[in-house]
Amino acid sequence: MEKLVIEGGVPLRGELKISGAKNAALPLIAATLLAPGTHVLHNVPNLRDTRTFLKLMEELGCSYDYTGTTLNVDTTTINHSEASYDLVKTMRASVLVLGPLLARTGAAKVSLPGGCAIGARPIDFHIKGFEQLGAVCTLESGYVTAAISDGLVGNTVYFDIPSVTATENLLMAAALAKGDTVIKNAAREPEIGNLIDMLISMGAEIDGRDSDTITVHGVKQLYAAENRIIPDRIETGTYLIAVGATGGEATITDCCPSHLPALLEKLRKAGFTLSEDESSLHISSPRSTEGRLLIQNTDITTRPYPGYPTDLQAQFMALMTLSGGASIIHETIFENRFMHVAELCRLGADIKTDGKSAFVTGKGEAGLVGAPVMATDLRASSSLVIAGLAASGKTVISRIYHLERGYENLVEKLTGLGARIWKER
Ligand code: EPZ
Repeated sequence: MEKLVIEGGVPLRGELKISGAKNAALPLIAATLLAPGTHVLHNVPNLRDTRTFLKLMEELGCSYDYTGTTLNVDTTTINHSEASYDLVKTMRASVLVLGPLLARTGAAKVSLPGGCAIGARPIDFHIKGFEQLGAVCTLESGYVTAAISDGLVGNTVYFDIPSVTATENLLMAAALAKGDTVIKNAAREPEIGNLIDMLISMGAEIDGRDSDTITVHGVKQLYAAENRIIPDRIETGTYLIAVGATGGEATITDCCPSHLPALLEKLRKAGFTLSEDESSLHISSPRSTEGRLLIQNTDITTRPYPGYPTDLQAQFMALMTLSGGASIIHETIFENRFMHVAELCRLGADIKTDGKSAFVTGKGEAGLVGAPVMATDLRASSSLVIAGLAASGKTVISRIYHLERGYENLVEKLTGLGARIWKER
């Protein structure tokens, strides 16, 4: 199985271009199911998850052409409405076909995703939402089946927690429902804004973009359209932190700085200098007069957007292992998102956890030493890459298939910034 090898200790320098957002591409591809015809999506990242989602679309009867980062999806024919366990177990986001299939065909059957490394991650909010729009949902043999005989009917839906994919699923289902649907305590992540823009371009009527109360005025029909995937804010944050952890200086282009308010505030607090314009960010690292890297210990608490993203928690933890003092990291979104801690400690980090809190004692610039480590989930693996880049000596990361699910051309992009990183069998 492929491994990633890193010779650390090189300050990253130069320019790096960001790809389209995984967590926008998946719901926008799902949304094409709402209207027959050929849809065009630009800036679609070529990731393992994108390819898995397209395989699912094919299983439903669609066809597609994916050239470069432009995707044409033909959803004229849907002759199957089931997402199988074999697919869903590799990618939970498959659950995003439930809403559009239910709205378009009146029936959908999707394998329950089950838990993953970072938590139980139930889909009860999705199911409750569909039931409030009149669907009959049954759970049997590990599958959820949702059906509606005479079309969905708008209603008010309240989420206990502002769930990202539950908001997306209900938005798509409600777009073709009779009457109005009001989603209360909705998620506000930028990826949801991207989906709302696409649905409106297809003919949907939606108010409340970027707010926690969204109103969908159901329409009879939607039409194929052309749209663009927003830049990946989590990829942007990952590379910003990688540059900082190595004490480097770089410009990140084709990104959207305004989608990262919490991270930029925390990086500035940690001593980094950041300048930005609409689509690029420049970062330089804090150094003493003698040239020593001086990262300030900084606490974070993960929150729904616009709070600090949970998908950048592990990466920031890696950075804090190199700070000059103690920092506390609270993870409030997922109950088991510290799988990277033990692996970072193998690289010499000093981290203690207690439930959903981690206490990081920074060891300064020379705090980490290369070692063999194992990836456990997508974002945990990127924190190991960051730590390996900052560590002295060689780090070998196994199970890198996790990384390929969410980072396009990671080795090429980091090599472009001067990193000594390569894949090995
Ligand atoms: C999305 O997952 C992202 N995935 C995740 O990114 C991200 O970590 C997460 O949002 C939070 O920002 C995609 O967009 C494909 P949630 P999602 O529903 O929608 C609980 C990555 O690394 N909950 O917002 O599945 C849930 O257990 C991935 O790219 C319920 O209890 O997350 C969690 O504690 C990882 N019942 C909380 O809500 C439900 O029905 C927030 O989860 C739904 C959610």
